Amino acid sequence: MGWTGDPTYDLALTAGLAFAVVTAVASRFVTTPYGRFASTRLGPTVPQRIGWLLLEVPALIVFPAVYALGPQAAEPVPLGFAALWLFHYANRALFFPLRMKVRPGARMGLVVPLTGWFVVPLHAWLYATWYARLGTHLTPAWLTDPRFGAGLATYAVGQTLVLHSEAVLRGLRAGDDSGYHIPQGGGFRWVSSPHYLGEILAFTGMALASWCPGGLFVLTITLANLVPRAAATHAWYRQTFPDYPPGRRALLPGVW
Ligand SMILES: NC(=O)c1ccc[n+]([C@@H]2O[C@H](COP(=O)([O-])OP(=O)(O)OC[C@H]3O[C@@H](n4cnc5c(N)ncnc54)[C@H](OP(=O)(O)O)[C@@H]3O)[C@@H](O)[C@H]2O)c1
Repeated sequence: MGWTGDPTYDLALTAGLAFAVVTAVASRFVTTPYGRFASTRLGPTVPQRIGWLLLEVPALIVFPAVYALGPQAAEPVPLGFAALWLFHYANRALFFPLRMKVRPGARMGLVVPLTGWFVVPLHAWLYATWYARLGTHLTPAWLTDPRFGAGLATYAVGQTLVLHSEAVLRGLRAGDDSGYHIPQGGGFRWVSSPHYLGEILAFTGMALASWCPGGLFVLTITLANLVPRAAATHAWYRQTFPDYPPGRRALLPGVW
């Protein structure tokens, strides 16, 4: 399929989209085994924090290595995009797992990092290749394109929602507390998983801002992962807390 005219990129993107479709179908039957839905049903497990690091850290290795080899690597606009991408992944791969309040004995199914080793490096490769090699429109003139402005604004709203919601969740476990509580404030006023909504918005904005075809894969796999998990999380809250706010929705304020 001709996404960009570059056969390797197009093949990688098509393979990624096919994987996202498989994930979307599988997610209807299995909830990814980590966090409140951890289980041994899908095989061996690893300590939760280690699982997150194994899953996400490859992004911080693949992206700079691929980016540095591109002919546009030293150009200012690609450099700006690369910095934003690394900022995003510094949170996901390092800050989030290292700061999370882990329940004693919490584990993650090894299947999560194992499947992630296809998804995360592919995500890094698709963006690094686009910024440093294929996105030849990423010159200073691109900064006046409405797609750049709209994408950056959407990214900023989404990532702010992610960072704030993750901070609210961390704040629910003070001291040695390792229980679950009803989150309040910020995006939690409207939905049970505002950090998932933020992630979807952030990846929409990231793709739009540089008009990156690879962003379609990242967005599709994120929807395949997070929409079913938002539904399961919302149902879990309702079942666990009889006093759960009745007007709160799963993912989309006022809608669902
Ligand atoms: N792009 C993608 O495909 C993708 C996929 C998955 C996740 N993510 C992103 O990764 C981040 C983390 O996702 P996640 O699924 O781990 O989120 P999560 O289930 O909400 O958990 C995040 C952290 O908050 C804790 N927590 C959650 N609810 C809590 C409550 N009611 N009371 C006390 N602590 C609570 C969790 O503890 P426990 O671990 O003990 O439950 C965990 O440490 C999110 O921002 C998400 O958007 C992205």
